[in-house]
Amino acid sequence: MKHFIIGAVAALTITGAAEAQQNIVVAHTTPAGSHYGVGADAFIAKLEELSGGAFTGEQAAAGQLGGERDLIEGLQIGSIDMVITSTGPLGNFVPEIYALDLPFLFRDYDHARKVLDGEIGQELIAKINENNLVGLAWAENGFRHVTNSQRPVRTPADLAGLKLRTMENRVHMAAFTGMGASPTPMAFPEVFGALQQGVVDGQENPVTVITASKFWEVQKYVSLTGHVYSPAIILVSPILFDGLSDEQKGWFYEAAKAGVEANRAEVNRLEETGVALLRENGMEVITDIDKAPFAALAEETAYSVYTDEYGPDMIDRIKAVE
Ligand code: PAF
Repeated sequence: MKHFIIGAVAALTITGAAEAQQNIVVAHTTPAGSHYGVGADAFIAKLEELSGGAFTGEQAAAGQLGGERDLIEGLQIGSIDMVITSTGPLGNFVPEIYALDLPFLFRDYDHARKVLDGEIGQELIAKINENNLVGLAWAENGFRHVTNSQRPVRTPADLAGLKLRTMENRVHMAAFTGMGASPTPMAFPEVFGALQQGVVDGQENPVTVITASKFWEVQKYVSLTGHVYSPAIILVSPILFDGLSDEQKGWFYEAAKAGVEANRAEVNRLEETGVALLRENGMEVITDIDKAPFAALAEETAYSVYTDEYGPDMIDRIKAVE
């Protein structure tokens, strides 16, 4: 049996004259059992099924291959096959995507999923595809909440002076500056250690990530601010994808749908059960939050990061989706 490296880390295994197998590595930054891991497993299972075993797959979870920005760069140069990533660092590559990162924009999960599965989602995937990446489908991370080690956060005043890790995302950083915190951008694989060592006081992520990362070991308070919906996307390296036949590309798109379905089902499950898990593990969960003052401050500073360049049209279109 011989192994050849194809473009990225995908290995082609020749087992016989007519039989060729390609192993696809799906990289992401959360644990293997997380909402991304569940999505990656469903993608791999469907791809294996559709291709009759011509493609196999495995996860490289928990940031084994780097943070999300590194992973996206890896796709562009062909050192990484596939990635499931939040949009956090994607705006650095495709600035139009910042529209999706605006705080207090999406009303709820139904609204966000309708936008991403519809015309707007497809338009934004087309923009991604113009930037040396291939977007297969929109998955999700969930609505983000603030955790910290210092005090309950109920109002923007409670954020004052808190060193809060954010994603490497200009919109999020502007929003947290507006809401009164001191944002510290950092790649996710460094976050647990930074919280543990007190380099930062807090971070913000959905229940999916807070539970999967066991942040209760290093954070006391979680405030259900739901300040921003965090989309995710299944990306593939253009170097890998361009080498596929049309039929094979079709399998990847179909498998991505299965990945999204499993990912969203896991997000739904954790939205129902995750908060109880946080309490069970000793976190104080703050629910009596008036979101209006957070929204006013965040919108004032964050929206212009997008609108200064692209105007308000996309935002109006997103809001209009019922
Ligand atoms: O906080 C982040 O960087 C992202 O939400 C994460 C956890 C990597 C998932 O995409």
